[in-house]
Amino acid sequence: MISIIGSGRVGSSIAFLCVSNAIDDVVLLNRTKDKAIGEALDIASAIPANSKFSIRGTDDYSEISESKIVVISASSSFYSESRTENLSSQVELIKEIAEKIKQHCPSAIVLVISNPLDVLTYYFQKTSDFHRFKVIGVASSLDTSRFRYFLSKKFSVPQSSVTNAIVLGEHGETMFPIFSGVTVDGKNLLSMIKDNERTLITYDVRNYWRKLRNHKSRSQFGIAKNTFDVIETIINKKEIFIPASVVLEGEYGEENVALGVPVKINNNGVSEIKNISLDEIESDLLKKSAEKVREDINSV
Ligand SMILES: NC(=O)c1ccc[n+]([C@@H]2O[C@H](COP(=O)([O-])OP(=O)(O)OC[C@H]3O[C@@H](n4cnc5c(N)ncnc54)[C@H](OP(=O)(O)O)[C@@H]3O)[C@@H](O)[C@H]2O)c1
Repeated sequence: MISIIGSGRVGSSIAFLCVSNAIDDVVLLNRTKDKAIGEALDIASAIPANSKFSIRGTDDYSEISESKIVVISASSSFYSESRTENLSSQVELIKEIAEKIKQHCPSAIVLVISNPLDVLTYYFQKTSDFHRFKVIGVASSLDTSRFRYFLSKKFSVPQSSVTNAIVLGEHGETMFPIFSGVTVDGKNLLSMIKDNERTLITYDVRNYWRKLRNHKSRSQFGIAKNTFDVIETIINKKEIFIPASVVLEGEYGEENVALGVPVKINNNGVSEIKNISLDEIESDLLKKSAEKVREDINSV
């Protein structure tokens, strides 16, 4: 069973992918019960004829006790200037949800989606006391999709021609794409761009959400697909290598923080934090990003 706490845009999009791909039963849990029931009824019409799984909506945590995975996409309000805008109310929310999940499904793997992503991943892990490899903040893989999108547009190639693109750090203003190692159509990216283009691409990746909001109120499908990929890996006992936010205990020289780093995920959660080599610029950016998230954590 997959439970999704918060059945707004993002939660219901994730539920739709899980149901239409028939990977497991889904429970949508929402503060306003009617919304969960309504979304579940709508999504239930997307259950394939040969599926043995179903979906239901509720506001009752006792219904999520069988969950292998719990996704947290709840939000009390939405931000307009910065993801950290509603920091204290979101931290209160995640602590409350962490207590409930600890009580009702202490063995679940938890995927944190709500913002500010890294701060909430940290507070969920500390409040629940779940093993840090069972608490995964999903966002850097979305930022990576955006990096790949910009490179594909810039060089007019399909995204399949871009390899090793990855974005690390905070899901926020200090995230940074890793340029070293990226190839486009088999050629080294750094040999194809100038320093100022590196700065411009980094700016574009960090500000993708602002650009999107010129046309649509909030994003939902990119994060839904990236979250679905993690869910599918866990349920179908596969393995993926993506950047995701995890509480660090010395990896990359950081502790007392959760941050987007390269990880391997299998059916038990994170199996390994990969230590990839970073150049001087990238190491410095990682340090700054960790400092920023730690500051936010300590500001609550
Ligand atoms: N990780 C990423 O890359 C990424 C990408 C996009 C969005 N996000 C984040 O994902 C979160 C959800 O975004 P959204 O656009 O789906 O927001 P949304 O449409 O406003 O949905 C949020 C939902 O959470 C529910 N909720 C609030 N408090 C709750 C609680 N205590 N228990 C259960 N449900 C509760 C709300 O219920 P009511 O109907 O009762 O208000 C609402 O249905 C936000 O924090 C957003 O910033 C993250």
